[in-house]
Amino acid sequence: MTLDVDPFEAFEEANAQGVRDPYPEWASMREQSPVHEIDLREEYGLGEDVEFELPRAYVVLSYDGVTQVLRDPESFSSSYYADTMGVVMGHSILEMDEPEHHHYRGLIQQAFTRKALDRWQDELVRPMVESIVSEIADRGQGDLVRELTFPFPVRVIAGMLGLPASDLAQFHRWAVELISVGFDFEVGMAASQKLRDYFASVLAPRRVEPQDDLISVLAHASLDGRVLDDEQIFAFLRLLLPAGAETTYRSSSNLLFGLLTNPPQLAALQADRSLLPQAIEEGIRWEPPLTGIARWSTRDVSVDGVPIAAGSVVNVCMGAANRDPKRWERPDAFDIFRPPQQHVSFALGPHTCLGMHLARMETTVAMETILDRLPKLRLDPTADDVHIRGRAFRSPPSLPVVC
Ligand code: HEM
Repeated sequence: MTLDVDPFEAFEEANAQGVRDPYPEWASMREQSPVHEIDLREEYGLGEDVEFELPRAYVVLSYDGVTQVLRDPESFSSSYYADTMGVVMGHSILEMDEPEHHHYRGLIQQAFTRKALDRWQDELVRPMVESIVSEIADRGQGDLVRELTFPFPVRVIAGMLGLPASDLAQFHRWAVELISVGFDFEVGMAASQKLRDYFASVLAPRRVEPQDDLISVLAHASLDGRVLDDEQIFAFLRLLLPAGAETTYRSSSNLLFGLLTNPPQLAALQADRSLLPQAIEEGIRWEPPLTGIARWSTRDVSVDGVPIAAGSVVNVCMGAANRDPKRWERPDAFDIFRPPQQHVSFALGPHTCLGMHLARMETTVAMETILDRLPKLRLDPTADDVHIRGRAFRSPPSLPVVC
């Protein structure tokens, strides 16, 4: 089969849109007001010829405003996603409001236990990361994004789901095509159907005979007499890859970028491994992989003192909130020594990221292995213009290193 378009490149280009650093713009907007009314036509680059009427929309940029929205699911509904990502994912946990969300999350959480996490760490994550990092160590140079942070979270998810290694490349491709729906509707819809058919063939035998994997746990989970039907499981599985792989690959890359461009901090971490948990949190605060999420306002409401009309789209900018100078000193600096404080990269409230412990574990294992096996790690001095880019999703496209 010949592949004319590389979906990974296409998604990267559409996402980055040439944006290097949206933070100065967010800072100056936040200085004027914690909440701004925005024009969705401009926001999504829609032409004047769009026929349908767009709703009112706002962006919330302050830490207080963002936490208020995320902690008030009655005034700010997640059903916004039903008309966006829901079109390709199906009716997933992401777009549910209470009490439906609470029941569904209770069922899904059964697959994310401490015991499962320990097993994934020992059987999947550590061997995978060790083999990749060993290759880089033997060669004395490599690209930490292309070789390590990009491929490994998706392989972890495929391993958690019990998918054969031979399906991995195809599975990854469909998952990226799925989230490309915003700029290529047909490709996104086709990928949604292909993933559904693929998961149907994986789920059916596990309904009959459970295996030791996440799909089998979902197939047999029950809570208060409820179980998950096939479509609910497909919707969750279609969400899992973008939610779990796009984010973790970028957050690990951003942490590595922060350390590699601040060598004294990398040296301090090498000398004192107890700094690792706070270094990971600082990386996620400073450069969250996903800078914004969205809600519908269900009533007229005031956010951080600014009125928002009922029926508006509310963009919640975690990136800006994480750098609110009212909460953090020198908020634009990457500083692993700052006193740890709650950030909002994993959201807050009922939809707080279900995979945050998994994400932290994956990054911990990757960093421990790198610190152990690559003690002389530094950016390749011949590499040109290594940088983080993007607006909604942010990360460096490559991290060439010598070691
Ligand atoms: C650093 C990595 C990650 C970041 C920054 C992140 C961020 C987020 C955010 C902001 C949300 C809230 C979305 C919203 O309410 O609109 C979320 C939800 C979610 N995340 Fe993550 N995520 C990460 C890793 C993961 C991983 C590894 C998984 C699983 C494999 C995962 C699974 C989910 C799921 C299932 C939800 C939906 C929860 C719900 O709606 O109740 N995430 N994540």
